[in-house]
Amino acid sequence: MKKSRIANFIKVFVKKPLDVGSITPSSRFLAAAILKNLDFSKLKVVVEYGPGTGVFTQFLLSSSSPSKTQVRVIEFNADFVSHLNERFPANQYNIVIKQDRAANVKNILKTPDELVDVVISSLPFTFFPWEETLATINASYEVLADGGVFRTYLYLHTLPLPKIQRLLSHLKVLFGNLNSWVVLANIPPAIVVECIKSPGKMRAH
Ligand SMILES: C[S@@+](CC[C@H](N)C(=O)[O-])C[C@H]1O[C@@H](n2cnc3c(N)ncnc32)[C@H](O)[C@@H]1O
Repeated sequence: MKKSRIANFIKVFVKKPLDVGSITPSSRFLAAAILKNLDFSKLKVVVEYGPGTGVFTQFLLSSSSPSKTQVRVIEFNADFVSHLNERFPANQYNIVIKQDRAANVKNILKTPDELVDVVISSLPFTFFPWEETLATINASYEVLADGGVFRTYLYLHTLPLPKIQRLLSHLKVLFGNLNSWVVLANIPPAIVVECIKSPGKMRAH
């Protein structure tokens, strides 16, 4: 990864540590792990939350065909949004970059009944108030198509925290299933958690 991107990431971390949640960008190993086995030929809309400097975004764009898949990213921090706009200009990539909170994911839909195939989250849930975690997860569930996939990563050392245990319990109740895989080649080591929306499940509240 370019040194300037790492410097940019650290600069934003120093200004807003709790929003960013990690002092270093994710590794390419974590990017590969969070996107593994997604069949991009079948994905029309992929939404990424909290892309930061765009480590996962780069992988998403290079794994997908611009004629089939649109990548939409929701980033809260204005410095990262400027960086993403420079790095991934909309005239070169099939991308929509929006400055917003992930809980407002519905704002990124083209029509109110449009559905999303995959949500990839880098959000630092450890530092979120529970209400925002709940609003974000429920809104994600609502916009996902049947069979749609929600993936997030968590740092291994945060797993015992009550907030993270509560998040995992809520995901389990809502989606009814959780898959996970560990990624040691990241600082800090992480675990990817995947939930798949099964057809005909209840609405989120
Ligand atoms: C751990 S960093 C992302 C790291 C990214 N995967 C990378 O490697 O560069 C978390 C990101 O989530 C963003 N963020 C925090 N709260 C958010 C929210 N409610 N909605 C959207 N983005 C948010 C932060 O600004 C930051 O870019």
